[in-house]
Amino acid sequence: MSAELVQAAYIVAALFFIMSLAGLSKQDTARAGNWYGITGMTIALVATIFGPETSGLTWIILAMVIGAAIGIFYAKRVEMTEMPELVAILHSFVGLAAVFVGYNSFLPQWTCDNVKTLADVAELTRAQIQVCEVLHDQPHAEHVIHMVEVFLGVFIGAVTFTGSIVAFAKLRGLVSSSPLNVPHKHKLNLLALVTSFALMVYFVKADGALWPLIVMTLIAFVFGYHLVASIGGADMPVVVSMLNSYSGWAAAAAGFMLSNDLLIVTGALVGSSGAILSYIMCKAMNRSFISVIAGGFGTDGSSSSSDEDYGEHREISAEEVAEMLKDSSSVVITPGYGMAVAQAQYPVYEITEKLRALGVEVRFGIHPVAGRLPGHMNVLLAEAKVPYDIVLEMDEINDDLSQTDTVLVIGANDTVNPSAMEDPHSPIAGMPVLEVWNARNVIVFKRSMNAGYAGVQNPLFFKENTQMLFGDAKESCLKILEHI
Ligand code: TAP
Repeated sequence: MSAELVQAAYIVAALFFIMSLAGLSKQDTARAGNWYGITGMTIALVATIFGPETSGLTWIILAMVIGAAIGIFYAKRVEMTEMPELVAILHSFVGLAAVFVGYNSFLPQWTCDNVKTLADVAELTRAQIQVCEVLHDQPHAEHVIHMVEVFLGVFIGAVTFTGSIVAFAKLRGLVSSSPLNVPHKHKLNLLALVTSFALMVYFVKADGALWPLIVMTLIAFVFGYHLVASIGGADMPVVVSMLNSYSGWAAAAAGFMLSNDLLIVTGALVGSSGAILSYIMCKAMNRSFISVIAGGFGTDGSSSSSDEDYGEHREISAEEVAEMLKDSSSVVITPGYGMAVAQAQYPVYEITEKLRALGVEVRFGIHPVAGRLPGHMNVLLAEAKVPYDIVLEMDEINDDLSQTDTVLVIGANDTVNPSAMEDPHSPIAGMPVLEVWNARNVIVFKRSMNAGYAGVQNPLFFKENTQMLFGDAKESCLKILEHI
């Protein structure tokens, strides 16, 4: 494939990626958006693999077959609720790849800069001598730009790598979701940044010094770990989308190092769309975008309301819930992570249809970070064929909750926790929530009195108008269906 054809293919692939992003931004065009992305990536891969600059085709195909086999194996097994952790671990691969690309693109420079004597020259291969000649003739400005690219690429990649691994471990429950509180954490972060900058200046000026790159890589690994470990459970959605953005910038940096235009464009698209998503998430969760970028968010862990005594909770049976629903004229369902775990969306849809047939107004209230990934609840409800027009955003439904007869909280917890509004020391303080306690009756479907993802107790469960329906959400819904 000629270089011109490869460039043309890259432009077409980039257009497909843009169409993919546009498609993915709306529910009804998301499926088409996915196909555009797949098509763009196929074109990009074919053009890169068969392009004039590619050698070692056998190795590439072998690596692709192994990678694809692992990818297909996991993609088939992964549950919807495990998607964020899968995304996090994939981000870590992008970060690690950027680190490798950085080192790989610096090593020829390092080899050439360390040729001091004739004996050193004698040890070089013919190809290495040619590379050294090209590098020697390179204009100074170009050389500086390349060194900065290498340094920044490795830095962003290393931060993304360890940050994503911590995010994966937190989302998978391998480590506690509560924030790590190292004393003077913001000062330490600043110190890491300043030291890395000083190392970059030295690295660019002192030709052929590998150690600043290695020291910075170690600092960046610790920095990435610390940034994400300091963030509490409830803020993880922002972290995941931020790491998504970082992985894009890491890919773009790798594109600069490899002089690959498509990688630059694709990385920039992922980086900027991830940043926009993070901004939207920050707004939804009432967090400052700037402090997110600076890693200075999360809680100080000064206090948690989990040990407070809220009194007794009351229980209700599925049969009584069915009666209550039939007597209601308006019902709002607020689903959360537990609905996804139980796969209760199908019986929830059937309850909705039965109640609507009885003349009850049924609507859904969706919190922007309900579940474990953006749009999680919308996807589940769409899967169960719940009509879009009765699925409302938190802001659209909150004012109506005080005129609602019954709210069914199905497997949601943090997203309906009043301490976000009432307790300034709560780890979720300031996060807007669904104000379900304003309704006449609230029924909470869950299996125990355990806390939600953020690890804080929920005073909603002890309010006078709240009753708990214990058990797996799907089984509870099926029992209710029997009695409607
Ligand atoms: P959570 O606060 O995660 O609570 C889910 C509740 O579901 C738990 O209290 C659990 O209680 C219950 N549950 C689990 N399995 C169940 C089952 N089979 N049947 C019935 N109940 C079940 O849920 P949420 O309100 O959706 O909030 C989401 C949280 O995740 C937020 O803190 C958010 O910040 C965080 N988060 C969100 C995202 C995105 S992007 N959405 C990403 C990462 C983290 P029991 O164990 O007692 O049953």
